[in-house]
Amino acid sequence: MNQLIELKRVTTKKDKPDLSSLGFGKHFTDHMFVMEYDKEKGWHDPRITPYEPLVLDPAAAVFHYGQAIFEGLKAYRTSDNRVLLFRPSKNIHRLNVSSERMSMPPLDEELVLEAVQQLIDLERDWIPTKEGTSLYIRPFVIATESCLGVKPALQYKFMIILSPVGAYYANQLQPVRIFVEEDYVRAVRGGVGAVKTGGNYAASLQAQLKAEKLGYDQVLWLDGVEKKYVEEVGSMNIFFKIKGEVFTPALNGSILGGITRDSVIEMLRSWNVPVHERRITIQEVYEAYQRGEIEEVFGTGTAAVISPVGELSWNDERMIINNFETGELSMKIYQEMTDIQLGRIPDPYQWTV
Ligand code: COI
Repeated sequence: MNQLIELKRVTTKKDKPDLSSLGFGKHFTDHMFVMEYDKEKGWHDPRITPYEPLVLDPAAAVFHYGQAIFEGLKAYRTSDNRVLLFRPSKNIHRLNVSSERMSMPPLDEELVLEAVQQLIDLERDWIPTKEGTSLYIRPFVIATESCLGVKPALQYKFMIILSPVGAYYANQLQPVRIFVEEDYVRAVRGGVGAVKTGGNYAASLQAQLKAEKLGYDQVLWLDGVEKKYVEEVGSMNIFFKIKGEVFTPALNGSILGGITRDSVIEMLRSWNVPVHERRITIQEVYEAYQRGEIEEVFGTGTAAVISPVGELSWNDERMIINNFETGELSMKIYQEMTDIQLGRIPDPYQWTV
């Protein structure tokens, strides 16, 4: 498909937000990308238009049965004013993995990449340059057909919106306190935990609130069946450094295949750090802790990149990780990853485009 993307520019640009208090996902740029899908025309009318509210029928399927998927990736501006995207094809491909699972129509990945690039190019003066900031790109698809029958909708809208963001967590590399959740579960194999659909995030909120009430920052999710195996931390993948080797749960059908997760694994292997992707029980984490073997624990994700874990609370046992300090490896990965993303060092992995 080689579709032309139409462009309708805003007449008045918005004022840019204060860079020192961007927060995450609170400000949006002047333009957005939109296209629609129906059975007859397929995906059609790709266009960049002024950012504006949507008009949708109250019976639109997305409001009732949750056919909705999204992605998250970032654009960075280098000190010599180049714009870099971090592995965009991976996110765009994952969008199609999500759409298949949610019985939604596939997107033309080349067109989506073109749309991301054209939109970013138009909005390049929205890309913040301050340390820890970037332009977050949120592509998403929603079912727009007005029909209350439970079935795959016949009409959809695909959009891309952009948000200048600061650190996801207020204290970027400050270790967080984690509550190991044993009642609520995030996902089960055969379900939708391995894809990016809104319901996963909605379903996680009760546990998040509970953890906060107990004084923690986030939860560690265990598998939904035996509640024995470690899966994710908050909305991030999780890594453990134990006696010089790194362990992360294998992708088993209920864990999201994070692009930062994949990048961290590749980076560590290139540094000759052994990385094991396998099932990890919370019991073995505890036993390794008791033997004093756990050196670092950290989460990985697009939004925060790396988030060190300072404490894991499981069954009334408080495991304090690395004296509640940011570990050396976590720091090194964060530094190298963000240096590559910002074009400050050469990118030996060819992740940036
Ligand atoms: C991430 O990028 O780490 C996430 O999954 C969080 C995002 C949904 C805001």
